[in-house]
Amino acid sequence: MPKKIKVNLKDNSYNIWIGSSIENNIYDYFKKYSIHKNILIVIDEIVFFKHKKLLNIFSKKYFPKINFYRLNVKESVKSYKTVKEIQSFLLEKNYSRDTAIVAIGGGVIGDLAGFVASTYMRGVHLVNIPTTLLGMVDSSVGGKTGINFKNKKNIIGTFYQPKLVLVDMQFLSTLSKDEITSGLGEIIKYGYLSDEKYFNYLIKNYKEIYFNNANVIQKLIYNSLLLKSSVIEKDEKENSLRKILNLGHTFAHAFESDLNFKIKHGFAVIAGLSSSFYLSDQLNIINKKDLQKYLSLSSAIKVGTFLNKIDNKNIYKIMRSDKKNIDDKVRFVLLKNIGEILVDVIAKPSQVYSALDKTKKLYL
Ligand SMILES: NC(=O)c1ccc[n+]([C@@H]2O[C@H](COP(=O)([O-])OP(=O)(O)OC[C@H]3O[C@@H](n4cnc5c(N)ncnc54)[C@H](O)[C@@H]3O)[C@@H](O)[C@H]2O)c1
Repeated sequence: MPKKIKVNLKDNSYNIWIGSSIENNIYDYFKKYSIHKNILIVIDEIVFFKHKKLLNIFSKKYFPKINFYRLNVKESVKSYKTVKEIQSFLLEKNYSRDTAIVAIGGGVIGDLAGFVASTYMRGVHLVNIPTTLLGMVDSSVGGKTGINFKNKKNIIGTFYQPKLVLVDMQFLSTLSKDEITSGLGEIIKYGYLSDEKYFNYLIKNYKEIYFNNANVIQKLIYNSLLLKSSVIEKDEKENSLRKILNLGHTFAHAFESDLNFKIKHGFAVIAGLSSSFYLSDQLNIINKKDLQKYLSLSSAIKVGTFLNKIDNKNIYKIMRSDKKNIDDKVRFVLLKNIGEILVDVIAKPSQVYSALDKTKKLYL
């Protein structure tokens, strides 16, 4: 049975559906919101070819005006160039204000199509159908859209909520093991933000994800999105509480940037979580006896070998140019206990270096 989460926002509330045969009801979902007339599907080319059967529903039989815009997905397609190409296509095909842009793909397609939807004719409907685990547990919800510019990731973007999010776990059947692990990075982050009960469930069950255990996968997606939604409901535009979703991310973004985005986001998040726990320890924020327990999950997933290639000083330099800094100071999101997070914490460079050295040893 599909599970539903309602994201309650002041202006743009929406529903998320999570299931494994929701393609049967897609037309009904669209019709309910009267967004079934003018559809542009922005889709990852791999998904287009691998999931023809699942996508059968998107035909002229059900949708009077429908076109597919296929993209060969890599991080570099999140650019002004692609935005202009999609906008030109929309104009050429006479798409009007009652258009729905449907993003079918991972975070790259979601961020890009979301940005186009938020700007075309001052905003048209957006529907997210994530096909990567990372998209399903994180990027398809919350309204952050973005493109890269001047070598800076997500530096241009908008907050723009989708009208509907449809998570169909059948898409995961063709995803590589590395992409699954990448999604797991965000799943475990939500574990630390949650409570002891769910954290212990995660430690016990996270491996099931590799064995296609649909019940476990649905629970992990549901719990991650429920937590994310509850945070967004309180702070849609990241003025305060939403910052907790960046646990581990100050380190993670610096790792990714240092390695020219050649590593998967979730891999960087997992190692970044470990670094942030060590930094919490340096600053006496985390309880010493709990440190090992928290590290036991983030270190069990062996993704940190890329750390051999990084230089501590360079990482700190990158952190200093992070767009989330205030008053030119690097701000960290740190864990005190499960579910107890501190934001905007400042640390000395030497403490950051020490946390990085310990993380490197952890993944040797
Ligand atoms: N908006 C947000 O809140 C948010 C949050 C986290 C990350 N992001 C962004 O998300 C992007 C990363 O997203 P991602 O990890 O989903 O990567 P992605 O979109 O690049 O997809 C990863 C790879 O999986 C392939 N793929 C997608 N679905 C597939 C499927 N079902 N079967 C087989 N292959 C499939 C893609 O072609 C690609 O090669 C980054 O650009 C990041 O900035 C955004």
